[in-house]
Amino acid sequence: MTYVIGIDSSTTATKAVLVDASGSVVGIGLSEYGYDVPRPLWSEQDPGLWWDGTVAAIRSVLATAGVAGSDVVAVGLTGQMHGLVLLDDAGKVLRPAILWNDQRTGEACDEIRRAIGPERLIAISGNDALPGFTAPKLLWVRDHEPDVWRRIAHVLLPKDYVRLCLTGEYALDKADGAGTLLFDLAARDWSGEILEALGIDPGWMPRTFEGPEITGSLTADAAAATGLRAGTPVVAGGGDQSANAVGVAAVSPGIVALSLGTSGVVFATTDAPLRDPRGQVHAFCHAVPGRWHLMTVMLSAAGSLRWFRDALAPGVGYGDLTREAEMVPAGSDGLLFLPYLTGERSPYPDPLARGAFVGLTVTHDRRHMIRAVLEGVAFGLRDGLDLMIAAGMPAPSQVRASGGGIASALWRQILADVLDSEVATVSTTEGAAFGAAILAAVGAGWYEEVVDAAEALVVVTPAASPGADRARYAMAHERYRDLYPALAPTFHRL
Ligand code: XUL
Repeated sequence: MTYVIGIDSSTTATKAVLVDASGSVVGIGLSEYGYDVPRPLWSEQDPGLWWDGTVAAIRSVLATAGVAGSDVVAVGLTGQMHGLVLLDDAGKVLRPAILWNDQRTGEACDEIRRAIGPERLIAISGNDALPGFTAPKLLWVRDHEPDVWRRIAHVLLPKDYVRLCLTGEYALDKADGAGTLLFDLAARDWSGEILEALGIDPGWMPRTFEGPEITGSLTADAAAATGLRAGTPVVAGGGDQSANAVGVAAVSPGIVALSLGTSGVVFATTDAPLRDPRGQVHAFCHAVPGRWHLMTVMLSAAGSLRWFRDALAPGVGYGDLTREAEMVPAGSDGLLFLPYLTGERSPYPDPLARGAFVGLTVTHDRRHMIRAVLEGVAFGLRDGLDLMIAAGMPAPSQVRASGGGIASALWRQILADVLDSEVATVSTTEGAAFGAAILAAVGAGWYEEVVDAAEALVVVTPAASPGADRARYAMAHERYRDLYPALAPTFHRL
């Protein structure tokens, strides 16, 4: 038997997933860690955690599955996107990585828009400048840490630091590259124009590769540390969102990946570099060669239900909560919920946006409130989908859903009705790490194309279809859409 491994270095853990040639997950290794919040709005992490986590996760998965490291024929990498990793000319880390959820760079975003021109920035990179992206973090270091800035020799993203430790190579995949805001979206490589306008040395940027391409092979040191074989090829992989899409086989236009975790992500593959002219939709390269994707991100999706449980129904299980919601009709008898509990990213990039229940009367009780939360999250996801359709992608033929929230049959039905699409679940819940393993399977030569590998290795099960409540939800969604513009001034004053 031979195997491939997918490694996901997320914000909270590194996971190694071992997959056999039939696509079965034969083992999972996990190594957890924390991240630092040195000041409000800041978010940092020591890159050493990702490497230690990778070593621990690989060793653990090989041991628990009883598989010899020499039977692993390729490694695929994925991880949290956008994080800034700075290294000197000896490959030494210069400061803690500044992560995707760090919000310190508002001024740098304004400067980037001014330097390139807001429309030109979207025309080249596909995106507006958001604090989460990598480019504004670089400018922040230039302005606040000139000693670090002077010593920069290499810029990497989190999973590519793991790649450096595994292979000694500076390299990066095009999906994650596009999330830096320094990429030419159509050309699928660094934008000379953006780098020059921002005063960033092109020599700092690593070579870029398509997701299944081999970027290097395991060094003897990395082999000794992990238990894998020296010389094992490591493929480029992809940022966590594109790798997750590969892991649910959302690799062709018309299939949308929906991730309903703490945050909610709507992800759609396109075969051309589409853009939203206002930059309200993220537009990145896919981990599938020659394909792109649009994406919107809701910050509190299943996180809204968790908040509700913790604040108003402590100790009640999610299954019991959603059973209560089943007792009231679609539309929650006119009660609406806005899910902007931690600010919002799409469709309103507003850190000051807030959550709200609107329309409460004495006839409402907890059951209506729970259902309104499930429906409000679905309406917010629909807002994201609508922006993507307006940017030129086709309406989805199927939504492939993953994440904790998808365990609820009621929520799946609400999503099918509100998104007006069939909702399906997939065979594995290992998301991005599984997607990275699929990319490794292509790199290993098991398949020619990522699309073929994903379709062969991912089992898709239809779970809900749009039903009779569709029209009622469409009306409620119209009312929901009026709320943010009406309430935003109050949110900002609060
Ligand atoms: C994507 C994004 C998150 C991070 C963290 O744009 O910011 O998915 O990659 O996982």
